[in-house]
Amino acid sequence: MDLVQEIQKLKTERRAVILAHNYQMPEVQDAADFTGDSLELARKATAIDAAVIVFCGVHFMAETAAILNPDKTVLMPDEHAGCPMADMITGAQLREFKARHPGAKVVCYVNSTAEVKAESDCCCMSGNAVKIVRHYADDPVIFVPDQHLGSVVEETLGRKLILWSGYCPTHARIHPRDILELKAAHPGAIAMAHPECPKPVRAVSDQILSTGQMCAFVRENSATEFIIATEEGLIHRLRKDNPGKTFYRVSPFAVCPNMKRNTLEKVMFCLRDMRPVVQVDPAIAVRARRAIEQMLAWS
Ligand code: 13P
Ligand code: SF4
Repeated sequence: MDLVQEIQKLKTERRAVILAHNYQMPEVQDAADFTGDSLELARKATAIDAAVIVFCGVHFMAETAAILNPDKTVLMPDEHAGCPMADMITGAQLREFKARHPGAKVVCYVNSTAEVKAESDCCCMSGNAVKIVRHYADDPVIFVPDQHLGSVVEETLGRKLILWSGYCPTHARIHPRDILELKAAHPGAIAMAHPECPKPVRAVSDQILSTGQMCAFVRENSATEFIIATEEGLIHRLRKDNPGKTFYRVSPFAVCPNMKRNTLEKVMFCLRDMRPVVQVDPAIAVRARRAIEQMLAWS
């Protein structure tokens, strides 16, 4: 039996579903029941009828699924698939930051640990950050951990936020020159950048979109060429969904090594062995859940 068949068999036995983020390797995306961006996967995790969720993504995403589904077993093919941006602020650092800005509301990008979410008033995703911060029109807002997503919100709403200086190392490797060169070679192509990209990259892009929004934009737009300024894994999904269109990878360095830790073998092993299980301290989970549910209610 080949690996994919073995996974399908184990999936049925365990009553499991496989969720994969848009940055996963092509073969992992193809083996999944659902692929999507962070928000789509978080929503999906609450809507599915399954005993087990295999979350192919990074740790904070699986942790979010576990927080929203205390009655399901959430497995991660590789428990070491972390997110360096999420690790750029700890719960203790956020508590200290809050003490320096009394009265401020805290919005945390979902790329954060459960402990940081537990210290926050509301979470947000790349696709709904502006919408969430709008709800706090009359309060100062602390925004953690991504300075770039935070500055997209500032630019869109025309107001200052109290930003933490975290960033995504993968998106930081994208250079404006990468986009300008591709635009010169393909003048009709639309450049789409993820809000985690630094400002000079965003400034030379045509659209600033989450990965799920990029999928929708390409589907609904009549253009046939697109420059993709985000992690390269998304291109597999875009090509699959839009066979007649052409996608240009912005840089060979736009790779998230953590997203690539999940392999088909590890998906099979985790279903076979029912581990590693993602666990969250119940006292933290209850507070983190409030911040996640506030976001889901507002988005
Ligand atoms: P999306 O929510 O846009 O899929 O982004 C998640 C992420 O980790 C981007 O680096
Ligand atoms: Fe974290 Fe960046 Fe990887 Fe997304 S691409 S998981 S933000 S390191």
